[in-house]
Amino acid sequence: MNVLLLGSGGREHALAWKMSASPLLTKLYAAPGNPGIGRVAELVKLDVADHSAVAAFCQEKQIDLVVVGPEGPLVAGIADDLRAWGIRVFGPSKAAARLEGSKGFTKDLCAKFNIPTAAYGRFGDLASAKAYIEKVGAPIVIKADGLAAGKGVTIAMTSDEANAALEACFEGAFGAAGAEVVVEEYLTGEEASFFCLCDGATALPLGTAQDHKRVGDGDTGPNTGGMGAYSPAPVMTPEMTERTMREIIEPTMRGMAELGAPFAGILFAGLMITDQGPKLIEYNTRFGDPECQVLMMRLKDDLLILLNAAVDGQLAHMSIRWSDAAALTVVMAARGYPGTPEKGSVIRGLDQVEGEGVQVFHAGTAVNGGALVANGGRVLNVTATGKTVGEAQAKAYAAVDRIDWAQGFCRRDIGWQAVAREKAEN
Ligand code: AMP
Ligand code: GLY
Repeated sequence: MNVLLLGSGGREHALAWKMSASPLLTKLYAAPGNPGIGRVAELVKLDVADHSAVAAFCQEKQIDLVVVGPEGPLVAGIADDLRAWGIRVFGPSKAAARLEGSKGFTKDLCAKFNIPTAAYGRFGDLASAKAYIEKVGAPIVIKADGLAAGKGVTIAMTSDEANAALEACFEGAFGAAGAEVVVEEYLTGEEASFFCLCDGATALPLGTAQDHKRVGDGDTGPNTGGMGAYSPAPVMTPEMTERTMREIIEPTMRGMAELGAPFAGILFAGLMITDQGPKLIEYNTRFGDPECQVLMMRLKDDLLILLNAAVDGQLAHMSIRWSDAAALTVVMAARGYPGTPEKGSVIRGLDQVEGEGVQVFHAGTAVNGGALVANGGRVLNVTATGKTVGEAQAKAYAAVDRIDWAQGFCRRDIGWQAVAREKAEN
C-alpha cells in the first residue's frame, strides 16, 4: 500500500522507520518529513494546513492510508476533511480530538462518566477564577483550555502565583487557547504515560513510557517538549494497567461513543499514580514525542497492520506483541533550547553509531550544502534497547558520545528513576 505520513519530528521518523519494515508497504511519502525520514520515504512539499491540497496529492498518488503525526492537523479537522474525499486516515476526527484540543471538554467528560481526575473548575473570566482559588487555596494548577504547545500549565504553590498565572492567561499569553481556563487540584504521585490504539469501540494497550520534561539534569530548569523517555514505565504494573483500562480508558471510549464522537487513533493518557490509584492528568490524541521513539523500538508487530486494523474497526480481534527489552531515548538539543535554538551547526558521525539495538531518529535536522545541520530545538533522538533500562541507558549515552556535534547538548540522567529502582532491586 501507499502511505502518506504527516509531520516532521522524531516521532514521525520513528513511525516511518517502523512502517518501512512492513511487507505491506509499497511506497511511503512524508510531508514535510526531515532528512532522517528521507532515508525511508519520499519527502513532499505539501502545506498540511491546506486539506484540499493534501487530498489532491492523495488522489494523484493513490494513497491508501494517511498517518497523522502531530495534534495540530487533527484538532483542525484534517481527518474529517480527508475522509470526506474518501481517503482512509489514521487519526481521530475533529470532535474526538477535543480530548486534546480542549482541557475543559476532557474534564467535563471525566465528570460525566466518573473517570478519576483532579477536582476542577472551568472559567471564562478572571473574577470567577480568582474567587474559586480563594475558596480552595494553593497549591493549585492553572491550565489554558486549548493547545499551547505544552506551555499552558502552571503549577502554583501559592495563591499569588495562581492569580498571576490567571492574569497572564486572560491577558492573552496563550492567545485564543487561554480564553478559557481550567483550575484544578494539585495531584501528587508518580507520573506515567499510557498509550492505547483505538478504533472507535475497542482500545488496546500500546505500551507505557516515562518522559523527562525539564531541560536540566535532576529535573531542573524550564519545561520542554521532552528531553528523553524510556519504556516500559515501571510504575505501570499489570494491576495498574488493568485499573487504568477499566477506570479511565474504557469509560472514555464509551463516553466518546455516547457523545457521538467515537475515538479512533492513538489515545495518550498522562497519568498520576496516586495513593488512590491512577488519575487522569490529561489526554493527547497522538503519539508522544519522544515517547513514540521508545515504543517503536519495542513493538514486535507490524505497525501498518495495526494502524489498518484501527482504521477498519477490527481491533477487537487483535493483540499486540512487545519485546521484553527496555528502550531509552536521549534527546540531543541545540544550544538555546527551550528558548531560541541556534540553527545551522554541523552534525557529524551519525553513520558510525547506529547498529544492533541503536537508532538515531532525526527530530530537527536539515541538509545544507551536503552537510547535516541542526534545524530546530530538539534535533536528534539517540535511542537504544537493552535487557534493563540501565543497559539501554549505557548504550544510548555511548552512542551520544560518539556523535560529533559541539553545539548540541543533552541531559545526562535520562532514566534515572528506573535505573535507581533496578539497582535497589538487585
Ligand atoms: P500537561 O501540559 O497537561 O501535560 O501538564 C504538564 C505537567 O504539569 C504534567 O506532566 C504534570 O507534571 C503537571 N501537572 C499537570 N496537571 C497537574 C495536576 N493536577 N497536579 C499535579 N501536576 C500536574
Ligand atoms: N512528550 C510529551 C508529548 O509529546 O506531549
